[in-house]
Amino acid sequence: MKTLAVLSQKGGVGKSTIARLMATAYAGVGWRVKLADFHTKQLANVGWARLRMAAGVQPKVPAEAFANVRKALTQQTQYDLMVFDGKPNFDSVTLEIARESDMILVPAGVTLDDLEPQVKFAHELLSRGVERADILFVLNKTLDSAASVADAKGYVEAAGYRCAATDLPHKTGYQLAQNGGRAINESQYPSLNERADALAQEIIDRFTELAETKK
Ligand SMILES: Nc1ncnc2c1ncn2[C@@H]1O[C@H](COP(=O)(O)OP(=O)(O)O)[C@@H](O)[C@H]1O
Ligand SMILES: [Mg+2]
Repeated sequence: MKTLAVLSQKGGVGKSTIARLMATAYAGVGWRVKLADFHTKQLANVGWARLRMAAGVQPKVPAEAFANVRKALTQQTQYDLMVFDGKPNFDSVTLEIARESDMILVPAGVTLDDLEPQVKFAHELLSRGVERADILFVLNKTLDSAASVADAKGYVEAAGYRCAATDLPHKTGYQLAQNGGRAINESQYPSLNERADALAQEIIDRFTELAETKK
């Protein structure tokens, strides 16, 4: 079984949004996927999976809350992939998730206020033994300034991390999709879906590449 985590220092940056995107993307190509929610105070994914089921959206993506990674991993023979949706802040659970993950996505906004704590968070992961190559930053909630997106990418790269070339714009359509139990590539808007699909594909490609280098 493979493991993909979405982690961050900050809340509200798009962890659950990106975790759902990746869970549905892999489920859509036939992988047996579990969306594991570690934000046990919110259980946002459990609610989202329930909405998805009620709306009959395919592919089905089971979600479950876990207090720690060890508990999630007891199910590893049942799945091809677990997507770990972390909780904000750096704590022992976050570190455990990071260590058990084949790849770690770190969502961030484009402002310095958003980027700085996320880069510090990534540095912290490295200092605890996580491999730099396993981390991929994803810029989320971007606005209409290409220059600010380019600056943010430059900031991430200057700090020594990879940053996905595709950023996710801040769009009401993405919120509506998720309110209906859909992932952000399943919205009512083809252009938004295309953008989310491009990000998902980029992440899939990097995930595959990492798996090959680790063989
Ligand atoms: N690109 C986006 N466009 C619009 N709304 C977004 C976008 N990404 C996330 N959101 C919204 O922002 C809020 C926080 O996102 P979420 O994925 O739950 O973050 P986290 O899991 O890191 O707390 C949610 O209401 C979500 O729908
Ligand atoms: Mg969340």
